[in-house]
Amino acid sequence: MAEKKTFYITTPIYYPSDKLHIGHTYCTVMADAVARFKRLQGYDVMFLTGTDEHGQKIEKRAAEAGVTPQQYVDNIVDGIKELWKTMEISYDDFIRTTETRHVKRVQDIFMRMFNKGDIYKGAYEGWYCTPCESFWTESQLKDGKCPDCGRPVEKAKETAYFFRLSKYADKLVELLKGGEFLQPQTRVNEMLGFIDQGLEDLCISRESVKWGIPVPIDESNTIYVWLDALSNYVTALGFPQLDGESDEKYKKYWPADFHLVGKEIVRFHSIIWPAMLMSLDQPLPKHVLGHGWLLIDGGKMSKSVGNVVDPVVLIDRYGVDALKYFLLREYTFGMDGNFTNEVMIKRMNFDLANDLGNLVSRTVTMIEKYNGGIIPAENAAAHGDTDEELREIALGVYKNVEAHMDKFEFNYALESIWTLVRRANKYIDETAPWVLAKDPEKKDRLNEVLHNLAESLRMVSVLIQPFMHTTSEKMRAQLGIEGEPKWEDTHVFDALGGEKVTRGEVLFPRLDVAKELEELEALKKAAEGPKIEYAPFKENTEFDTFEKLDLRVAVITKAEKHPKADKLLVFQVDMGSETRQIISGVAAHYTPEECVGKHVMVVANLAPRKLRGLESAGMLLFSEDTEGHLHFVSPDDQPGMVIG
Ligand code: MSP
Repeated sequence: MAEKKTFYITTPIYYPSDKLHIGHTYCTVMADAVARFKRLQGYDVMFLTGTDEHGQKIEKRAAEAGVTPQQYVDNIVDGIKELWKTMEISYDDFIRTTETRHVKRVQDIFMRMFNKGDIYKGAYEGWYCTPCESFWTESQLKDGKCPDCGRPVEKAKETAYFFRLSKYADKLVELLKGGEFLQPQTRVNEMLGFIDQGLEDLCISRESVKWGIPVPIDESNTIYVWLDALSNYVTALGFPQLDGESDEKYKKYWPADFHLVGKEIVRFHSIIWPAMLMSLDQPLPKHVLGHGWLLIDGGKMSKSVGNVVDPVVLIDRYGVDALKYFLLREYTFGMDGNFTNEVMIKRMNFDLANDLGNLVSRTVTMIEKYNGGIIPAENAAAHGDTDEELREIALGVYKNVEAHMDKFEFNYALESIWTLVRRANKYIDETAPWVLAKDPEKKDRLNEVLHNLAESLRMVSVLIQPFMHTTSEKMRAQLGIEGEPKWEDTHVFDALGGEKVTRGEVLFPRLDVAKELEELEALKKAAEGPKIEYAPFKENTEFDTFEKLDLRVAVITKAEKHPKADKLLVFQVDMGSETRQIISGVAAHYTPEECVGKHVMVVANLAPRKLRGLESAGMLLFSEDTEGHLHFVSPDDQPGMVIG
């Protein structure tokens, strides 16, 4: 038997820093549809996804959660795998960058590039935020300060390793100009423009990031997350081959047919990744495809804005197939698209409940009613004019789907399938089987009509299989079709005859748009939790009264517990011109050690008073969160600065 042709497709590996939202699932749903389509066409498919688990961000999240980075990612990765199970994502392998199979190979990749002379030791210079232990580039800073915590940063240098990316600039230009490596074309121009500005060598290790793969020749450094992450596409297949381990999959599936990635990471995939492979003397992936983003009200979906859409809520309500259909049908590959509940519900109603759901239930009901539930065989003698048109449309769809799927035009592929669904619905209205049924002499014609409808549905069940495989199975069960669908089944009409139909549940119930919108909104509110109760504003005060307060910046130089009161901490604060003792009731919120070095706000002219025997000259300002925790009000300025 001839070997099957292979096909390798990948999604980006996701950061397990948080739960994934609908934007992330968009890419995986597209990759899944292509993988299923290729399998249906008879390819030997490898579909890879996974998680990108190292780096500063994860390190920080774990610290905030009070767990180790490994514990932190293990928990989120379990959730991601659960999500893909719920969404029936048919991946063949799931790679985690913390797995030994990956770690060892990334170190091997580093050494191969190093031994080739493509990696050298140097110094990395950037802006360093000490409390966050993070380096930032000039462009990452926000108003010249740390983009994470907003505190001042300072110039700092550390030892690092660099990849001679510049060496590959000409070859990369050739690759990008030379054809179909990167799509869509607009991204090619963007990348060429980027290279044109001068491609600098790339810093590929960090001393300051601890949560990463150690550089094999220098354990003080960890490998830069992108070098680590991009390698997943080959390490999962067994490259580089390790002693006693197989690289059979690498030989079989590499180079990848498609790396599917979001627009903002196209640069890493079309510049750094091919350059790494060039350095490793390995073949390059055939295509990198950059897709657009799902937006909310034209803007980014983000937890801090509070507008993330949870796919699981939608699946619970509408089912996996309806959600997948919507994502693939509504948006145009390569472009950004706006997500709204209303567009989604309307699309589900029109295309799924009205068009497809109706066609299935009408057809099966009529076969039950008019022919004892048996699909009639084809009867050329009873052919009518409208039959030819229906057949022609049905037999033309697969070619359109193939052409569109080659270009990742899921929306057009589905639209093409729906021309058949709609034509079949119209065919029912034109042939009016309920009228034919009244005349016993028209029984042959009635049967031919029922046959053509069942055939159309059979074709649709195969055509939609890559996009909505459960619906495909349900349709086939209702039509009494046995066996797995094959793509070739879409090349023939007149395959059915004699099958027994069984009416099933409604495939897609009709949705009440207004009610759904209201309930989705209520669910979102419930998920957000109770609203914060803000303290009411106090009465207005005159400027003169405010001006009487002397507010200053100070730095805590010493902190200790009050010898006679458990709740109090005694602070020595540097006020610029003098040092003062101030006492605050925050022992339950801060340890003395945590306080030293903090910049704080002080009411400097509050009359001194004694607190359990010790004098307090002024007051430190705190904010109180919803759980009653106190936090220092902490300005960046130098001690002694006046606030007002
Ligand atoms: N870990 C890197 C990828 C490494 S691949 C070697 C990463 N992870 S990510 O979790 O931040 O993003 C993963 C993918 O999700 C990206 O391709 C990104 O474009 C995509 N999306 C994130 N939000 C999205 C939308 N709102 N809409 C569509 N895709 C979005 O980057």
